[in-house]
Amino acid sequence: MRYLVLLTLGVFWALSGYSQVSIIPQPNQMIVAKGHYNLKAQVKISAPQDSAWQHVSELLSGQLKKASGLEVKSVSRKGDIAFSLSGDAGLGEEGYRLLVTPKGVNIQARTAKGAFYGVQSLLQLLPVEIFSDKKVGGVKWQIPLVSIQDVPRFSYRGLMLDVSRHFMPIDFVKKYIDLIALHKQNQFHWHLTDDQGWRIEIKQYPRLTEVGSQRKQTMKGHYTDGQYDGKPYGGYYTQEEIKEVIQYAAERFVNVIPEIELPGHALAALASYPHLGNNPDQIYEVGTRWGVYDEVFMPREETFTFWENVLTEVINLFPSKYIHIGGDECPKDQWMHSRFAQELIKKENLKDEHGLQSYVITRIDQFITSKGRRMIGWDEILEGGLSPNATVMSWRGEEGGITAAQQNHDVIMTPGNYVYLDHYQADAATQPVAIGGFTDLAETYSYDPTPAVLTADQAKHILGVQGNVWTEYMKTPAYVEYMVWPRASAISEVAWTQKEKKNIEDFKSRWAIHQKRLDLLEVNYFGAPSNGRFEYVWPVKKAEPKK
Ligand code: ACM
Repeated sequence: MRYLVLLTLGVFWALSGYSQVSIIPQPNQMIVAKGHYNLKAQVKISAPQDSAWQHVSELLSGQLKKASGLEVKSVSRKGDIAFSLSGDAGLGEEGYRLLVTPKGVNIQARTAKGAFYGVQSLLQLLPVEIFSDKKVGGVKWQIPLVSIQDVPRFSYRGLMLDVSRHFMPIDFVKKYIDLIALHKQNQFHWHLTDDQGWRIEIKQYPRLTEVGSQRKQTMKGHYTDGQYDGKPYGGYYTQEEIKEVIQYAAERFVNVIPEIELPGHALAALASYPHLGNNPDQIYEVGTRWGVYDEVFMPREETFTFWENVLTEVINLFPSKYIHIGGDECPKDQWMHSRFAQELIKKENLKDEHGLQSYVITRIDQFITSKGRRMIGWDEILEGGLSPNATVMSWRGEEGGITAAQQNHDVIMTPGNYVYLDHYQADAATQPVAIGGFTDLAETYSYDPTPAVLTADQAKHILGVQGNVWTEYMKTPAYVEYMVWPRASAISEVAWTQKEKKNIEDFKSRWAIHQKRLDLLEVNYFGAPSNGRFEYVWPVKKAEPKK
């Protein structure tokens, strides 16, 4: 019956002159009217005389010119597309109003960032060909008449990328940021260090990249196969490249959060500087197998000095308010058997090794806070007591996030069973190898980041939601895109759209249009015509999900 209604509506739309509007994430308030506004052969655009607004206006005119070939001209006022500063406090820092009438287009916002989100919606109202990087002929450049008023549900809307397990080239990182921005997301969490590779140049510690960015070989197939490819692998970003990415992201209103892992996930750092580990005489090698290693940092004073020096360079590079210090999966065996660690536990009156982890994180939190920034850690930082200014990223389900919010700490929700994009998204037997698990589009889409058990005041601590992309099995950019889209499109809607306005069937019908945009952007999403065409040939592995 529902399909009959949808079909009837579709036919009505097609006959009536109403357009199907397919914006992702779905705007929070939108009225679509009958008819269109047609772009003229010469499009005039006006925007407030402010560099950030002018920049947004130029991003729009650049795309219009490139794809449509229309002449686009900047005017001081009353453009056919007019940006204007709104005094409406209800729009907040990121909201916008977009009006398309028979006379033209008006984008109102309180900030250039809000206007940028208005532009993302406007581009998605235009024919999909607007996403082409070269002129497309024979297209009627028309925009449906709409009135949109749109404010995000959450302030933190993110996507993470692990570049340690597999290094991703700068151009791909920029493309990833483009897609984050297209989906009105505002955080790129860059996982830069781990056991299998240190990927950020640190001037004071050159061996981190000389030694720590290279590994002898990489696992082949699934972890459980125990196979290696025998080929050296490496890569890292110079500080100049990092600055270029941060600047590129800032131009798209995306903040870049660096993650420097401590006190676990430390093997690449220990291979570079063995004296920071349990045993300075041990020969450490950058990790080649996936999974968690027992070798962790030993929290001696010289290790704190190392962390503080590294974080100082990181803080000087990244303007982000948030600095992520990992904190997850730190096995305690070495600390249990270390005279130094046990004496420190006694001296500091700590309960046990979890107390020692808490001691480490609290000192790092104090350091980051002293620099005017805020620390984020994975939910293990709750163990042994949460440090005062910590923001918790809840990944082992929602429990850590709930506990942290109940203690009045800010939380970002990234629970594995909903937003881990390294899980299988379809029957494993039909898919390229993945870590395991099963999280399909519908499950990701169904996620509500605000747990029902929280009071209204506690719920205010849920800043938002993020998709996590661990790349053990994603060897290439095309492989990453295959795993990420469309599930990350669903996450963008989880983050932006009020839950009453969400509907999976409606999302899927919008995705059917949206995927044509991603085709033009050459994104190798799951189900794309390009799946067989990109440089990576998917091995079809007969396997049960293993996670
Ligand atoms: C994590 O997945 N270890 C944060």
